[in-house]
Amino acid sequence: MAIREILEVPDPRLKVVSEPVTEFDDELKELVSDMFETMYDAPGIGLAAIQVGVPKRVLVIDLQPEDTEAEGEVCSHGGHEHVHYPLKKEPRVFVNPEILDPAEELATYQEGCLSVPEIFADVDRPATCRVRYQDLEGETHEEEMEGLMATCIQHEMDHLEGILFIDHLSRLKRNMALKKLKKMREYA
Ligand code: NI
Repeated sequence: MAIREILEVPDPRLKVVSEPVTEFDDELKELVSDMFETMYDAPGIGLAAIQVGVPKRVLVIDLQPEDTEAEGEVCSHGGHEHVHYPLKKEPRVFVNPEILDPAEELATYQEGCLSVPEIFADVDRPATCRVRYQDLEGETHEEEMEGLMATCIQHEMDHLEGILFIDHLSRLKRNMALKKLKKMREYA
Protein backbone atom coordinates (compact mmCIF):
# COMPACT_ATOMS: atom_id res chain seq x y z
CA MET A 1 0.00 0.00 0.00
CA ALA A 2 1.13 3.52 -0.69
CA ILE A 3 -0.21 7.02 -0.38
CA ARG A 4 -0.42 8.60 -3.81
CA GLU A 5 -0.37 12.28 -4.70
CA ILE A 6 -3.84 13.82 -5.07
CA LEU A 7 -4.22 16.05 -8.13
CA GLU A 8 -5.67 19.50 -7.45
CA VAL A 9 -7.32 22.14 -9.64
CA PRO A 10 -6.36 23.40 -12.15
CA ASP A 11 -4.53 20.16 -13.09
CA PRO A 12 -5.83 19.37 -16.62
CA ARG A 13 -5.89 15.61 -15.86
CA LEU A 14 -8.95 16.24 -13.64
CA LYS A 15 -10.89 17.02 -16.86
CA VAL A 16 -10.07 13.69 -18.51
CA VAL A 17 -12.91 11.22 -19.12
CA SER A 18 -11.89 7.93 -17.47
CA GLU A 19 -11.83 4.61 -19.32
CA PRO A 20 -13.75 1.47 -18.33
CA VAL A 21 -11.87 -1.21 -16.39
CA THR A 22 -11.54 -4.45 -18.36
CA GLU A 23 -8.91 -6.34 -16.32
CA PHE A 24 -9.85 -7.35 -12.78
CA ASP A 25 -6.28 -8.12 -11.84
CA ASP A 26 -3.74 -7.46 -9.09
CA GLU A 27 -2.95 -4.04 -10.54
CA LEU A 28 -6.59 -3.01 -9.96
CA LYS A 29 -6.49 -4.34 -6.39
CA GLU A 30 -3.27 -2.44 -5.72
CA LEU A 31 -4.78 0.76 -7.16
CA VAL A 32 -7.83 0.39 -4.91
CA SER A 33 -5.81 -0.29 -1.80
CA ASP A 34 -3.62 2.77 -2.53
CA MET A 35 -6.76 4.84 -3.12
CA PHE A 36 -8.16 3.87 0.28
CA GLU A 37 -4.88 4.66 2.01
CA THR A 38 -4.69 8.02 0.22
CA MET A 39 -8.33 8.86 1.05
CA TYR A 40 -8.06 7.95 4.75
CA ASP A 41 -4.82 9.89 5.05
CA ALA A 42 -6.24 13.06 3.45
CA PRO A 43 -8.83 12.54 5.11
CA GLY A 44 -11.84 12.31 2.83
CA ILE A 45 -14.95 10.17 2.29
CA GLY A 46 -14.61 9.50 -1.43
CA LEU A 47 -11.95 9.34 -4.13
CA ALA A 48 -11.96 8.65 -7.88
CA ALA A 49 -8.93 7.04 -9.55
CA ILE A 50 -8.37 10.08 -11.77
CA GLN A 51 -7.74 12.11 -8.60
CA VAL A 52 -4.53 10.12 -8.20
CA GLY A 53 -3.84 10.46 -11.94
CA VAL A 54 -5.22 7.09 -13.10
CA PRO A 55 -7.92 7.54 -15.79
CA LYS A 56 -9.90 4.40 -14.92
CA ARG A 57 -13.54 4.11 -13.86
CA VAL A 58 -12.85 3.23 -10.23
CA LEU A 59 -14.24 4.88 -7.06
CA VAL A 60 -13.68 4.27 -3.38
CA ILE A 61 -16.07 5.61 -0.74
CA ASP A 62 -16.17 5.34 3.04
CA LEU A 63 -18.68 7.58 4.80
CA GLN A 64 -17.14 6.49 8.14
CA PRO A 65 -20.28 6.80 10.26
CA GLU A 66 -20.03 7.16 14.03
CA ASP A 67 -20.11 3.76 15.73
CA THR A 68 -22.90 4.42 18.24
CA GLU A 69 -22.59 0.85 19.61
CA ALA A 70 -19.04 1.54 20.73
CA GLU A 71 -18.14 3.40 23.90
CA GLY A 72 -18.49 7.12 23.36
CA GLU A 73 -16.66 9.96 25.01
CA VAL A 74 -18.75 12.60 26.75
CA CYS A 75 -17.63 16.02 25.77
CA SER A 76 -18.79 19.46 26.84
CA HIS A 77 -17.04 21.90 24.54
CA GLY A 78 -19.29 24.44 22.91
CA GLY A 79 -21.34 24.85 26.07
CA HIS A 80 -23.46 21.69 25.83
CA GLU A 81 -22.80 18.04 26.58
CA HIS A 82 -22.66 15.59 23.74
CA VAL A 83 -21.05 12.26 22.99
CA HIS A 84 -18.29 11.55 20.47
CA TYR A 85 -18.23 8.02 19.09
CA PRO A 86 -15.32 6.44 17.27
CA LEU A 87 -15.72 6.27 13.48
CA LYS A 88 -16.60 2.97 11.89
CA LYS A 89 -14.84 1.91 8.68
CA GLU A 90 -17.21 0.93 5.88
CA PRO A 91 -15.00 0.79 2.77
CA ARG A 92 -16.86 0.51 -0.54
CA VAL A 93 -15.41 -0.02 -4.02
CA PHE A 94 -17.27 0.75 -7.26
CA VAL A 95 -15.78 -0.32 -10.60
CA ASN A 96 -17.41 0.89 -13.86
CA PRO A 97 -20.33 2.45 -11.95
CA GLU A 98 -23.46 3.68 -13.75
CA ILE A 99 -26.31 5.76 -12.38
CA LEU A 100 -29.81 4.45 -13.12
CA ASP A 101 -33.16 6.08 -12.31
CA PRO A 102 -31.99 9.31 -10.64
CA ALA A 103 -34.88 10.77 -8.62
CA GLU A 104 -36.50 14.01 -9.75
CA GLU A 105 -36.47 15.13 -6.16
CA LEU A 106 -33.25 16.96 -5.33
CA ALA A 107 -31.20 16.99 -2.15
CA THR A 108 -28.72 19.68 -1.19
CA TYR A 109 -25.46 18.96 0.57
CA GLN A 110 -22.49 21.15 1.28
CA GLU A 111 -19.80 19.45 -0.79
CA GLY A 112 -16.06 19.57 -0.74
CA CYS A 113 -13.42 17.70 -2.73
CA LEU A 114 -9.85 16.60 -2.07
CA SER A 115 -8.97 18.05 -5.50
CA VAL A 116 -10.46 21.46 -4.57
CA PRO A 117 -9.02 21.89 -1.07
CA GLU A 118 -10.65 24.19 1.51
CA ILE A 119 -13.61 25.04 -0.73
CA PHE A 120 -17.14 24.02 0.29
CA ALA A 121 -20.41 24.84 -1.46
CA ASP A 122 -24.02 23.66 -1.61
CA VAL A 123 -24.79 21.46 -4.60
CA ASP A 124 -28.23 20.08 -5.61
CA ARG A 125 -28.34 16.51 -6.91
CA PRO A 126 -30.99 13.81 -7.30
CA ALA A 127 -31.89 12.69 -3.76
CA THR A 128 -31.82 8.98 -4.60
CA CYS A 129 -30.49 6.85 -7.43
CA ARG A 130 -29.80 3.26 -8.33
CA VAL A 131 -26.17 2.36 -9.03
CA ARG A 132 -24.97 -0.54 -11.13
CA TYR A 133 -21.32 -1.37 -10.62
CA GLN A 134 -18.75 -4.15 -10.61
CA ASP A 135 -16.68 -5.31 -7.65
CA LEU A 136 -12.98 -6.18 -7.65
CA GLU A 137 -13.76 -9.64 -9.05
CA GLY A 138 -15.82 -8.20 -11.92
CA GLU A 139 -19.19 -9.30 -10.46
CA THR A 140 -22.06 -6.91 -11.27
CA HIS A 141 -24.27 -5.48 -8.49
CA GLU A 142 -27.14 -3.03 -8.28
CA GLU A 143 -27.94 -0.94 -5.26
CA GLU A 144 -30.39 1.77 -4.23
CA MET A 145 -28.59 4.81 -2.81
CA GLU A 146 -30.01 7.60 -0.68
CA GLY A 147 -28.87 10.38 1.62
CA LEU A 148 -25.17 11.24 1.80
CA MET A 149 -24.26 8.03 -0.06
CA ALA A 150 -26.36 9.07 -3.09
CA THR A 151 -24.72 12.51 -3.12
CA CYS A 152 -21.23 11.12 -2.62
CA ILE A 153 -21.43 8.56 -5.41
CA GLN A 154 -22.82 11.15 -7.84
CA HIS A 155 -19.97 13.52 -6.91
CA GLU A 156 -17.41 10.75 -7.48
CA MET A 157 -19.09 9.63 -10.75
CA ASP A 158 -18.73 13.20 -12.01
CA HIS A 159 -14.95 12.85 -11.64
CA LEU A 160 -15.07 9.96 -14.14
CA GLU A 161 -16.50 12.43 -16.68
CA GLY A 162 -13.96 15.12 -15.84
CA ILE A 163 -16.48 17.18 -13.86
CA LEU A 164 -15.80 18.80 -10.48
CA PHE A 165 -18.43 19.87 -7.94
CA ILE A 166 -17.53 23.52 -8.55
CA ASP A 167 -18.63 23.00 -12.18
CA HIS A 168 -22.20 22.76 -10.79
CA LEU A 169 -21.96 26.28 -9.34
CA SER A 170 -22.77 29.51 -11.16
CA ARG A 171 -19.82 31.02 -13.00
CA LEU A 172 -19.68 33.79 -10.39
CA LYS A 173 -19.55 31.39 -7.44
CA ARG A 174 -17.04 29.13 -9.20
CA ASN A 175 -14.73 32.05 -9.94
CA MET A 176 -15.01 33.23 -6.34
CA ALA A 177 -14.11 29.75 -5.10
CA LEU A 178 -11.10 29.47 -7.42
CA LYS A 179 -9.93 32.95 -6.42
CA LYS A 180 -10.18 32.02 -2.75
CA LEU A 181 -8.16 28.85 -3.39
CA LYS A 182 -5.50 30.81 -5.27
CA LYS A 183 -5.22 33.31 -2.41
CA MET A 184 -4.92 30.54 0.19
CA ARG A 185 -2.13 28.94 -1.82
CA GLU A 186 -0.26 32.25 -2.00
CA TYR A 187 -0.35 32.56 1.78
CA ALA A 188 0.43 28.90 2.45
NI1 NI B 1 -14.22 15.14 -5.46
